[in-house]
Amino acid sequence: MKASVLFVCLGNICRSPTAEGVFRAKVKAHPLLKNNDLTIDSAGTAAWHVGKQPDTRAQAATKKRGYELSSISARQVTDSDFNRFDYILAMDLDNLNHLTEMASTLGYKGHLGLLLDLLDAPIREVPDPYYGGEEGFDNVLDLVESASDKLIEKIAQHCN
Ligand code: 4NP
Repeated sequence: MKASVLFVCLGNICRSPTAEGVFRAKVKAHPLLKNNDLTIDSAGTAAWHVGKQPDTRAQAATKKRGYELSSISARQVTDSDFNRFDYILAMDLDNLNHLTEMASTLGYKGHLGLLLDLLDAPIREVPDPYYGGEEGFDNVLDLVESASDKLIEKIAQHCN
């Protein structure tokens, strides 16, 4: 089974690389999914941080939970992402709106939505931690870990 997932935030240095690292680790540990051909990536709707490694606070927070983000470097979403990815999951509504415009121009047929809509919870957006303290990065991780578990379940259902 092939599946491809792109996580998208604004800068691609805090939330979406965190989601990429967490989801990648969970897939690697999953008995059904670890041997499947999954493409996992992240990108930002803005170009400000292109080429940079994830924010040091995101790297520190993820490392504490056993994830590794250091091989990720920021890039901007491109039109070709809409050909490559079955799932494009946005961290907040501003980014989803940006992606929805691109998707409609490009006639995207995949699953485009908010990552947190996978959870049965009132919270729909992963709060932007960039201008806050370290606790914001732990909050991102709590949300992203829960949503990644749901996404794994969803993709694994198609693996049997
Ligand atoms: P991200 O966080 O979208 O989760 O990567 C941000 C990173 C940078 C900025 C804003 C949010 N910025 O304004 O530079």
